[in-house]
Amino acid sequence: MAVLQEVLVEQLQDLLHAEGQLVKALPKMSKAAHDPKMKQAFQTHLEETKGQVERLKQVFELLGTRAKARPCKAMQGLVEEGQETIAEGKEKEEVAADLALAVAAQKIEHYEIAGYGSVRTIAEQLGNQKVAKLLAQTLTEEEKTDKLITQLCAPLLQEASRETGDEEE
Ligand SMILES: [Fe+2]
Repeated sequence: MAVLQEVLVEQLQDLLHAEGQLVKALPKMSKAAHDPKMKQAFQTHLEETKGQVERLKQVFELLGTRAKARPCKAMQGLVEEGQETIAEGKEKEEVAADLALAVAAQKIEHYEIAGYGSVRTIAEQLGNQKVAKLLAQTLTEEEKTDKLITQLCAPLLQEASRETGDEEE
């Protein structure tokens, strides 16, 4: 049990750092998005993300350990890519910039979905239902955000394929 608990705590420290980085990145992503719905989606997820940080702190407390963040290099890289996407987007058509931003956001969500899926499974294995339930709540929020971005991209994809005249080639 001690071994599993250690793995769980390490992974939670990684996620705490990841979420902290997102709290800083999401306002920039919201500002960069042109589509009002996408702008709003990032704003909503920012509020959710702040709640996820609090939820993680609650989990650390339930596990009787200090809420310590451990540098998450993967999220650092994803956020850096996101910033590049924002910078490059300034030279692009609005719809193209938004689609690229959506890709960056979905890569981030998928990383989080992987992370929370794993920690939830470990918590279940440890028989810690309270912790597993809290982590499952965050997992659901990440999955919902991912699906929402997919939905928001559908009209943008239509628009982009018209604008570029892809069918005329
Ligand atoms: Fe998150």
